[in-house]
Amino acid sequence: MEKILVLDFGGQYNQLIARRVRDHHVFAEILPYTTPLAQIKQAGYSGIIFTGGPNSVFDPASPHYTQEILELGVPVLGICYGCQLMCYMAGGEVQTAPSSEYGKITFKHMGQSPLFEEVPELSTVWMSHTDYIATPPQGFSIIGKTLDCPVAAMENAQKKLYAVQFHPEVTHSQFGSQMLYNFLYRICGCKGEWVMENFIENQIAQLRETIGTSRVVLGLSGGVDSSVAAALISKAVGKQLTCVFVDHGLMRKNEGDEVEQTFTSRFDMEFVRVNCAARFMQALRGVTDPEQKRKIIGTEFFEVFWDTIREQSDKGYFAQGTIYPDCIESGKGDADVIKTHHNRVKTPADVEFRGILEPLCDLFKDEVRAVGEALGLPKELVWRQPFPGPGLGVRIIGEITAEKIAVLQDADWVLRDEMAKNGYEKELAQFFCVLPDVSTVGVMGDHRTYDHLIAIRAVTTDDFMTADWAKIPYDILSQVSNRITNECAHINRVVYDITTKPPATVEWE
Ligand code: XMP
Repeated sequence: MEKILVLDFGGQYNQLIARRVRDHHVFAEILPYTTPLAQIKQAGYSGIIFTGGPNSVFDPASPHYTQEILELGVPVLGICYGCQLMCYMAGGEVQTAPSSEYGKITFKHMGQSPLFEEVPELSTVWMSHTDYIATPPQGFSIIGKTLDCPVAAMENAQKKLYAVQFHPEVTHSQFGSQMLYNFLYRICGCKGEWVMENFIENQIAQLRETIGTSRVVLGLSGGVDSSVAAALISKAVGKQLTCVFVDHGLMRKNEGDEVEQTFTSRFDMEFVRVNCAARFMQALRGVTDPEQKRKIIGTEFFEVFWDTIREQSDKGYFAQGTIYPDCIESGKGDADVIKTHHNRVKTPADVEFRGILEPLCDLFKDEVRAVGEALGLPKELVWRQPFPGPGLGVRIIGEITAEKIAVLQDADWVLRDEMAKNGYEKELAQFFCVLPDVSTVGVMGDHRTYDHLIAIRAVTTDDFMTADWAKIPYDILSQVSNRITNECAHINRVVYDITTKPPATVEWE
């Protein structure tokens, strides 16, 4: 299959570059700049993209690459730092720019470069740089400029080397997507083989071949990734797959039953649901410290999980819903550190498996969702919001009791219902209710009440590293508040959390 290498020099948009390439139906993979040339040669890429990065090419400690990569005959596109690096490697002159450019800048392209076909002469691009190309290397011509950047784009058409000082991958670059399309189709000669239907077909065939007659066990959380992995493996080997679903009783209202219903009615597989709410309640009794609660939930979960997997594994395969961002090696400095993530579970030494299956490890989240939809998973599941592993345990402040779980589940269900009715489900990154350990005085009829307070948390964010509180219209908030206090027992007050992250986190614990 045709593929593009995104060679990572530590820039913040590296995953975005790969995603944009895949949006054009060409597979892209990210490798750190420390990847040996021999490996790159052997992989047979249709094209290479040098990413941006925070460094200056003059800094001896900055990431560089052997000049030979420009001589492979494989088209290369340098972006931002990657553009300066290409210039430097090919013998051109990079300098600190007299004035750095940041933000939306007007770009003018010149000549007849295939990179700018169907791009108007003047367009807006996204710039963020302090160095620039003063003189392009021999054999290169200038194909674009801005007011402060005399070489905002250059090419060596004969060697198929292209470089742009701006970031075509971000949406602020008006015709960035067209430029990437041009690079892929007009310069690298790609055909667009990366389509989800092909992926599903190939994966199913591959899974069948690998698994043979063995059994497969998969830990199903009800989240998007493990659900899609389960659906895919089920299509491949049916009842050879056993999904283990540990229900710790800290799921949202009816969620455990919905997960069971979906997988037992729509998919061919063995489904083991371990109902262990009582065990969790016992372990959590009297515990109020947030970290302690998290630790207990995590420890109990994995004990139950591995005990069940041990019973079910039959020395077969262990499958996980690991996705691409969980596995990418970072090009930032310490390149051999692989990011670890809660999605990639460590298997204990005493459980024997034939191997680990990670059928989604090449996919970004939006691609996982597309696969999920194509496999017939319900929309609610495919578009499910992130839900923390410790579940409602981190949304009940103070001691967790069965009564508090029920109160929170009811209120949270009303919130979700109202958000869905008003079309806010996909608009907000996350919304949920929290049960603080607070009772307040209220009045109902002629009676004084002293009951629970519910807090609503709703955020918008791109990456969950920072977040803003969602500006939900007052009339919708008012409706949510009315319904929660009317329909849910033991709640007499509703408040809205208007804190950004930082200083607050999204979850309350
Ligand atoms: P915070 O609260 O750290 O949350 O701002 C950021 C995102 O991470 C989710 N989150 C978790 N997810 N296990 C998870 O799988 C956890 O322990 C956990 N804690 C927070 C949170 O829901 C939000 O989407």
